Amino acid sequence: MRRSRRGEICPDCGVERHKIYKHHPIPMPAAVGKGLWLVTDCDCIKKERALKRAQREAMLAIPPSNPLPLALQGKTFADFEVNPFNKRAYEGSEQFARNFAKVKDGKGVMLSGDPGTGKTHLAAAIANELREKYSVAFVYVPLLLEKMRTSNVPLEPLLAADLLIMDDLGSERGTEWTQERLLIIVDGRLSNYKPTVFTTNYHPNDLEKRVGTRVASRLLGNNLDLHISGTDYRLWKTASPSSRPPFSPLR
Ligand SMILES: Nc1ncnc2c1ncn2[C@@H]1O[C@H](COP(=O)(O)OP(=O)(O)OP(=O)(O)O)[C@@H](O)[C@H]1O
Ligand SMILES: [Mg+2]
Ligand SMILES: [Zn+2]
Repeated sequence: MRRSRRGEICPDCGVERHKIYKHHPIPMPAAVGKGLWLVTDCDCIKKERALKRAQREAMLAIPPSNPLPLALQGKTFADFEVNPFNKRAYEGSEQFARNFAKVKDGKGVMLSGDPGTGKTHLAAAIANELREKYSVAFVYVPLLLEKMRTSNVPLEPLLAADLLIMDDLGSERGTEWTQERLLIIVDGRLSNYKPTVFTTNYHPNDLEKRVGTRVASRLLGNNLDLHISGTDYRLWKTASPSSRPPFSPLR
């Protein structure tokens, strides 16, 4: 590399990266000196630096690789035990995930049913299936509303995500205020044709009382209704294998 007295010549572009002497903007102790020798950069160096900065920014813009709570990160369709009572919900969820690229109208999934019937499991399986290709957001509705009450929760990530999972809708303490917040999210996503997956303990007929007419109307009118009526898997799992009935419909 050729060097001039003031700097060096860039081997790529031939421009001199010259050294300049800059005085300190404020007087400094004598030991520090009056100023510094600095090297100004040629375009190659500037371009390289801009590229690195862009790469770093692009990396930061990617949502955290797994939006799901730890306990849900491993839930898949493969480890879901299919039974007569959950077959329709299983197949509907699986199909929704498989056809996700074709969803253009914002039509999502509404998983309703008794506790422990696998609603959150299926919602998580959908999210796990899609999260590598799409931006997926997950919220536990009661906690989200609690957070919104006490702090300023940015809605943008919830509205912008390709898929939003709203887990346990209706079990929050319902007030006019919470219903209004829900409407903003539900309606905000619908108006941009972004699908949402809901889970709830409430039967579609009772949902209106919990979330209000306007939210309920959107939920029922715009989502595939997958109701599960069957065995509580949590209780079944903890019963001794000899005493428990086969994992099958209760009614
Ligand atoms: N059919 C199934 N096969 C395998 N595991 C299941 C099945 N159904 C439920 N589970 C497991 O049982 C537990 C409870 O299921 P899940 O959390 O999905 O229930 P839920 O319907 O969301 O209940 P809740 O209404 O109380 O939220 C989870 O660990 C889930 O993985
Ligand atoms: Mg659940
Ligand atoms: Zn150069």
